[in-house]
Amino acid sequence: MTSLGVGMLGYAFMGKAHSNAFHKIGYMTWPPPLEPKLVGIAGRNKAAVEEAATRYGYEYATDDWRTLVADERIGLFDNGGPNVLHAEPTIAAAKAGKHVVCEKPLGRNADESYEIWQQVAATGVKHLCAFNYRFVPAVRLAREIVDAGELGEIRHFRCRYLQDWGDDPSLDTWRFSAEDAGGGAIGDLMSHVVDTARFLNGEIATVNGFAKTFIPGREVDDAAEAAVEFENGSVGTLEATRFAHGRRNALQWELNGTKGALAFDMERFADLQVLKEDGRTRGFTTVQVTEESHPFASFWWPPGHVSGWGDTFVHELHHMLDAIANDTPVGPWAADFEDGYRCAEVCDAIVRGGTQVIEYRS
Ligand SMILES: NC(=O)c1ccc[n+]([C@@H]2O[C@H](COP(=O)([O-])OP(=O)(O)OC[C@H]3O[C@@H](n4cnc5c(N)ncnc54)[C@H](O)[C@@H]3O)[C@@H](O)[C@H]2O)c1
Repeated sequence: MTSLGVGMLGYAFMGKAHSNAFHKIGYMTWPPPLEPKLVGIAGRNKAAVEEAATRYGYEYATDDWRTLVADERIGLFDNGGPNVLHAEPTIAAAKAGKHVVCEKPLGRNADESYEIWQQVAATGVKHLCAFNYRFVPAVRLAREIVDAGELGEIRHFRCRYLQDWGDDPSLDTWRFSAEDAGGGAIGDLMSHVVDTARFLNGEIATVNGFAKTFIPGREVDDAAEAAVEFENGSVGTLEATRFAHGRRNALQWELNGTKGALAFDMERFADLQVLKEDGRTRGFTTVQVTEESHPFASFWWPPGHVSGWGDTFVHELHHMLDAIANDTPVGPWAADFEDGYRCAEVCDAIVRGGTQVIEYRS
């Protein structure tokens, strides 16, 4: 089996999630399209990144991401750094001929995201923007149901991403820095909402939204709201907040079509709510998405033995390895950097406020 050297930037939340996924791909998806070989990991703090290398099984640690870019044994550069560190290392890695994964949001705004997409696409490497919720089994099944036309004509899409950790003025993290993060809930959570909307219901044509900061002096937004119209004629509402007390990680969405409807709540990870208008008993049915015929089930356990949030990274990075091994497109199942850019245009429009027709650059 051919192996592929991996260089990871960041060793905290996403560094852990991605490293964990590379290990699992190596044995759970047997035989993997390419065997991930964990070569190097980069971070700021030398002692901490060395400990991370030992813990996650990388051959070496470095406090300079350029070491990874210069390492010829690395064929895949995986950027799990803060948003301010997405552009320069990702572009440099692609120019060095490495395939690239970059965490979301792709850039800190649409201009930076466009630049990353353009410069990376020009190199010809594979690029994936890590919108991992496309790889929740229930979300993939939903997309398959939509593509098969089983919902009829879509009229409504509503989605909200609710967390509750932001309502503390003493918190100090790069996520509250305009320089490091770009935005607040908009890039962190609304970007997932917009990508989910685009994945399940197609391109967004017009937006009317606004963002709000509750904590005085905080540089970034705490919540954002929008009403949108899609290119397919349907309408929707989008919401993202770090102030929804009681909601820990609730990405919730609903699609209503003329022949049926679907609904999902990530705090009930395995379940898809399905309404089919042709049934004798009208109402939503809960389908547990663990059957052998369901997406990604072949990697895991017998029906009813559910997988979880961390496994979305296994599905996503397996897809990337498959695209590299077989020279197949990253889209439409994963988000590529064009998707990352288009998502950022919608997010920027929400922050600008007012009704806007989105003009996507090509
Ligand atoms: N897909 C998802 O569900 C998801 C979830 C969380 C975060 N994210 C995204 O992943 C990225 C990282 O977020 P996180 O939650 O892992 O953040 P984090 O704060 O937990 O980790 C950031 C990492 O980057 C390193 N770092 C910070 N500044 C650096 C610098 N100047 N040079 C080198 N390394 C530096 C830190 O040492 C740390 O290892 C962000 O873009 C975030 O939006 C995505």
